[in-house]
Amino acid sequence: MTGQSISSSLVERRTFPAPSAAKLGVGRFHVESLADYHRLHARSIADPAGFWGEEAAKLSWFKRWDRVLDWQAPDARWFVGGTLNACYNCVDRHVQDGHGEQVAIVWEGEPLSPRTHHPAPDSRYAHEPELRTLTYRDLQQQTSRAANALRAMGVKKGDVVTIYMPMVPELAVAILACVRIGAAHSVIFGGFAPHAISERVMDAHSRVIITADGGYRRGDIVPLLKNVQEALEQTANHGHIVNHVLCLKRTAHQAPSQRFSTGDHLGATVMHWWHDVVDSASDACPCVEMDSEDMLFLLYTSGSTGKPKGILHTTGGYLTYVNMTARLTFNLMPDSGQLFWCSADIGWVTGHSYVLYGPLMNRVPTLMYEGAPNFPTMENGRGDRFWSIIARHRVTHFYTAPTAIRTFMKWGDDLPARHDMSSLRILGSVGEPINPEAWMWFHEHIGRAKCPIVDTYWQTETGGHVCTPLPGAIATKPGSCTVPMLGIDAAIVNEQGQELGPNQGGLFCIRKPWPGMLRGVYGNRERFISNYWGRLKDPHTGEPWYFSADGARRDEDGYFWIQGRIDDVIKVSGHLLGTMEVESALVSHPAVAEAAVVGVPHEIKGSAICAFVTLKPAWLSRNGRAPDDALRKELGEHVVREVGALARPEQVRFAEGLPKTRSGKIMRRLLRDVAAGVEKITQDTTTLEDFSVVAKLRTDDE
Ligand code: PRX
Repeated sequence: MTGQSISSSLVERRTFPAPSAAKLGVGRFHVESLADYHRLHARSIADPAGFWGEEAAKLSWFKRWDRVLDWQAPDARWFVGGTLNACYNCVDRHVQDGHGEQVAIVWEGEPLSPRTHHPAPDSRYAHEPELRTLTYRDLQQQTSRAANALRAMGVKKGDVVTIYMPMVPELAVAILACVRIGAAHSVIFGGFAPHAISERVMDAHSRVIITADGGYRRGDIVPLLKNVQEALEQTANHGHIVNHVLCLKRTAHQAPSQRFSTGDHLGATVMHWWHDVVDSASDACPCVEMDSEDMLFLLYTSGSTGKPKGILHTTGGYLTYVNMTARLTFNLMPDSGQLFWCSADIGWVTGHSYVLYGPLMNRVPTLMYEGAPNFPTMENGRGDRFWSIIARHRVTHFYTAPTAIRTFMKWGDDLPARHDMSSLRILGSVGEPINPEAWMWFHEHIGRAKCPIVDTYWQTETGGHVCTPLPGAIATKPGSCTVPMLGIDAAIVNEQGQELGPNQGGLFCIRKPWPGMLRGVYGNRERFISNYWGRLKDPHTGEPWYFSADGARRDEDGYFWIQGRIDDVIKVSGHLLGTMEVESALVSHPAVAEAAVVGVPHEIKGSAICAFVTLKPAWLSRNGRAPDDALRKELGEHVVREVGALARPEQVRFAEGLPKTRSGKIMRRLLRDVAAGVEKITQDTTTLEDFSVVAKLRTDDE
């Protein structure tokens, strides 16, 4: 991939100028022009200590740092000697400053009940959702109670608490309660299966899990507690005991299956209901003073080997970076009528940085929605819930993913047209490259051709945006994440670290440390170094550079265009999945001898999973089974059970053999071509052990 030029016919040439503040109807922009951006960016790179010191000073510190940065590549220590607390910066500081009664979180639940109090303005609003708002004072009180309840379970500074919850306000409370007392959180997306939970709990050495009995999703109930209970059995089988489970009652009235009383044991684990132990806890709980480099959270992400990586972020640097990127990318300003909605689940990094920490630190209310965009479901599975949320709450910022936008496009222009979305000012996209058609649809049908779109490129590892337009300063081009964030020294280089010219495809790398960068892969120093710091270095000084594993190019205007992952991870609906994770799940089925998983282009999901599987003939004959659709379905369900619904293969293809190199490595690039239906294989196959295997793969499934 490195060094390839992009043919000019593929280049998107449309450009949309940054609007003026007056035209967009906002008071002002933090960064107002391209010249301002260039000046600020140049300064941030030339004087990182001065620049980042000023950014850090926007937070509230118990003790100011002695030095901005100690950098011994690949180890960075930011704001050395400083102490602060994340919950204090998100909550208590605002109460202290007299903003305790301001709204911090606006929450809408998924279920609808018939409207009871006042008449509906029209039939669309005949049913009303459950709504809750939490002020900073509410958050201070509730995080203090939850923190005291966690303390009573023995949670202390430095512990890792696992959180597996639906998108309800208590999820935000649980996260902030952990950091209030210095415990790190490890949030697991509610769509993951028991195996994925137990793997993460054990890797993090976590002894306490916060969950809920269930969560609502498209009218169904996700059995969260049941999944946790299964995970507990699995961890116990490996000798890892979880001491306490704290469980919120969310769906009990609909599915009263999970019966326990606070204090009951499940194996060696003590069970607690949230309403028993949190609601009655004291609401006095001062925020613990944390070192700037103390761990703030772990967030597991898929890598190219089987086991997910616990990406480790620390307190001072992450908060400084997220505070700044949220402010600049979205032009956040307190007291200016903004309502920020990021539709990501808090189980992903986008939810951490931009549902929770970014807006709360900036004192801009953040909206959380519990459920699916197509609940209630209309004909053909369509839905307009998101547009109704924007209209009813007067949302000003809407930040979502290309896969969602493609789905909305498919559902039709008529749905957004039914709602008054004139409150919107800034739109955002995240998670994968956005195709220009989806960008244009978002621009026209959601942004009324007025709202700038910030296409934010970043990763779990980067903590916050590393390339994005700033809405008042940078003209946008559909499909480009445009320019580096302030303080980010980004470049497109080849394997030797040489910077490439315009439109040459290469590797996206970052050449200087930044405060939001990961500090490690939990418990795996070797993986931290080999994944991120062992691949690229400064050809002159030999200093390691941050390797993103994304291919990209930079155009003649200096704009970045991300082309996608170059490692063995697949982006399915914007979520990373390691091919190895899915392969391990497949081979854990008794029928499967070998499996290889590749991504295939998919209209809505971006990429979908195609699994090539070889079967065990003895097992088939012993069980009277054949390689048929029933088995395909069973294998698909098996993957869902092992990993989660995201990992369900779009295609399962049975093969007699898999193409391998002479050294025994599966040649995934060949499989990718076969899966995508590429007619003629142009790839270099000189290392292929047995070419007939490829020829057969094409016919096996026909
Ligand atoms: O391939 C890039 C893609 O998502 C990857 C990071 O995934 P994750 O750690 O799950 O974080 C997702 C949310 C930040 C990147 O390596 N990616 C993310 N945003 C974009 C993107 N690709 C192109 N354009 C984007 N805006």
